[in-house]
Amino acid sequence: MYLVWHDSYSVGYGPIDAQHQNLFAISNRLVDATEKTDGANDDDLRPIIAELLAYTRTHFVDEEQLMAKAGYPDLAQHHAVHVVFENQMRALEAQVNKGEVRAVASVLPQLLNDWLLDHIATTDQRYRSHVHPGMDSA
Ligand SMILES: [Fe+2]
Ligand SMILES: [Fe+2]
Repeated sequence: MYLVWHDSYSVGYGPIDAQHQNLFAISNRLVDATEKTDGANDDDLRPIIAELLAYTRTHFVDEEQLMAKAGYPDLAQHHAVHVVFENQMRALEAQVNKGEVRAVASVLPQLLNDWLLDHIATTDQRYRSHVHPGMDSA
């Protein structure tokens, strides 16, 4: 399940759009690695899963910093939504640590398609009017 970027996903702030696009790209790399005809092995999948989960966390932190800087009034609710997903990621990491690498690799792109795509297309859009291109997220 490839994630495909669409211009309507833009939150009006380039560095965050770039992070969202990068999340799609990492997820698509995981799909490619899973579908390799010669058979992906756990050692191919493990680093991509780790990168995807770590990058998602980094993204949430950066996004929340941006919302704080913009004075976005619904930051607490948005943070709570991120936390729910972080809990799901923790469960997936536990599965990977138990050796269920392939199972995680096969559900993660679907999860991102169902969750992340919807999150970017709806929840992330709500701060759009509060940020502007010239803002520094740092
Ligand atoms: Fe986001
Ligand atoms: Fe978000």
